[in-house]
Amino acid sequence: MSFKNKVVIVTGASSGIGAATAIAFSKEGARVTIVGRNQEKLRYVSEQCSAVGSKPLVITADVTNDEDLKKIVHGTIKHFGKLDVLVNNAGIFSIDKILSENVVDSFDKVIATNLRSAVYLTHLAAPHLIETKGNIVNVSSIVGKRVTIENCFAYHTSKAGLDHFTKCVALELAPKGVRVNSVNPGFVRTDIMQVLGVKKEAQEDFWDSMTKTSPLGKVADSEEIADLILFIASDKGRSITGSSFVSDNGAILVPHLGNIELQA
Ligand code: NAI
Repeated sequence: MSFKNKVVIVTGASSGIGAATAIAFSKEGARVTIVGRNQEKLRYVSEQCSAVGSKPLVITADVTNDEDLKKIVHGTIKHFGKLDVLVNNAGIFSIDKILSENVVDSFDKVIATNLRSAVYLTHLAAPHLIETKGNIVNVSSIVGKRVTIENCFAYHTSKAGLDHFTKCVALELAPKGVRVNSVNPGFVRTDIMQVLGVKKEAQEDFWDSMTKTSPLGKVADSEEIADLILFIASDKGRSITGSSFVSDNGAILVPHLGNIELQA
């Protein structure tokens, strides 16, 4: 799966799935733009990319800020001269109940991060992807396909929206030679709970519970999801568009994954 001379943007590349994806693309010869908010973490990922491939372009950006999104695309084109692959990966988890106070503020933040950013970045990147006959991989979730955990309606809704967005844009861009797909991971052990401010013990309980409930008896690691993203983005996936790929250790098959109260 060589990505030699291909230019790739990965959002949310400062940790977890995004970091693993940026490193994997670098290893396969791609020139990568890594996007995130935390400069220190980005520097660490940049070193890891450089160790296995070429030095990435580091762009510090908040994907909920339109000017920052323009900076990501314009900066990449200015630096590398083209764009072949966009990975919309940046995302946040959220615990919401419809009866909670300030629920709409939380909903707006989740939608802005997980869905609106992908829409606007796709809008900005599409003309460049048409030129290279490139492709987009959106990092969704099994929660886009099925309601799996209670008290996370904003997160579920953002990912269901992302799945539909993927299919709509795949149809629109197919005649122009651009493919658009999503990966839908189950549970992947990353910083996602930590970022939410969930206490360490509650995080461990959550991962333990997901491991026990999972049909394959494990949660995934970020590198497995990165491998899937690279396959879809590569020429091996040249006939794939408008598709979503679940990698979840069978979690989506479990009727009830548990009633988990995540105390922040
Ligand atoms: P993570 O917390 O390790 O990584 C999330 C990344 O998104 C970080 O680099 C973070 O800085 C970035 N990010 C968040 N908000 C941002 C903003 N406003 N501007 C710029 N960057 C921002 O978590 P993980 O698990 O690697 O998440 C990556 C994607 O995978 C997310 O879209 C998440 O919803 C999805 N996912 C994760 C699963 C899991 O179990 N960890 C399961 C299914 C999907």
